[in-house]
Amino acid sequence: MKTKITHSEKVAATFIKNGKLVGFPTETVYGLGANVFDEDAVKKIFKIKNRPADNPLIVHISDVSQINLLIQKMTPIAKKIIENFFPGPITIILKKNLIISDLVTAGLDTIAIRMPSDISTRKFIEYCGTPVAAPSANISGSPSPTSWKHVNADLNGKVDCILWGKNSEHGIESTVVDCTGKFPKILRPGSVSIKDLEKIFSKVEMEKIPKNGIAKSPGMKYKHYSPEAEIILVKSPSEIPLESISTTKIGFIGFEIVRRIAKSKRVSTKENYAKHLFDFFRKCDEIGIEKIYCQKVDMEGIGLALMNRLSKAAGKN
Ligand code: TXA
Ligand code: MG
Repeated sequence: MKTKITHSEKVAATFIKNGKLVGFPTETVYGLGANVFDEDAVKKIFKIKNRPADNPLIVHISDVSQINLLIQKMTPIAKKIIENFFPGPITIILKKNLIISDLVTAGLDTIAIRMPSDISTRKFIEYCGTPVAAPSANISGSPSPTSWKHVNADLNGKVDCILWGKNSEHGIESTVVDCTGKFPKILRPGSVSIKDLEKIFSKVEMEKIPKNGIAKSPGMKYKHYSPEAEIILVKSPSEIPLESISTTKIGFIGFEIVRRIAKSKRVSTKENYAKHLFDFFRKCDEIGIEKIYCQKVDMEGIGLALMNRLSKAAGKN
């Protein structure tokens, strides 16, 4: 298959209308989309990503009015999140409308919904004329794509079309919030932080991943976001044992520059760290880096989501 790369949201949308798949930009990471009501197209997503069938997809909308097509009933919690954070890097979980295929929701009775803030993304979804089911546009297990080139590297020849876009503004996936209970419950941390949610809710819960791995957000149990290289978390680059290892095979990302190693990326803030992390992982893999040292961050704000991705990449949970 030849992958069409286009700058036109309209052209990309024609592929979705014809039952095909499209890699598209969003402000978090790039998505791999299909018409949510087209089971055959949805099946293809799982196939080309090599994604386990028990990991449900997020459904992307261009307008809040589309939510009614997807759910049974709105909850006060979801309503508040929509009012305060849509469009943006946050996904709400609600009881699903029974017309939604079990393939999309991996058999769950709930559905994940997100309205991206990226203008081009919303234009694309609007032209599709339907909500678009989409996981991140990487092969399962590899770091999520934050540029169209990453999508091209993973899916060229497998995906029908890639909608060109800028590098993703946030660089890590959306905050996933269960809105079906008494309080909002964060199933996956992201750029919208606990503190942001606490500004509008008296209590915010945080899902703990049980030891048996059966997380409520099924995707959280899989090893994720990992490059080929081994990831080692350090407080400071002074912990890198430069004397005993070949410095041509190591990389570092954090708030400083390390000059004696093959690849070093200095970031200015935690937000900036999140934005560049997955791209740095991929660049290290391209040049055969074997160990990537990543500077730990505090858990404030986006720090929680960043440490979640770093620990997962390091295989710590
Ligand atoms: O920022 C994002 O969320 C990106 C962009 C493309 O929107 N998408 C993304 O999708 O990260 P994916 O498939 O890589 O991750 C979706 C997460 C998984 O952890 C999945 O288990 C969870 O959302 N999820 C989806 N439906 C769910 C449901 N009904 N209940 C609980 N968790 C759900
Ligand atoms: Mg993903």
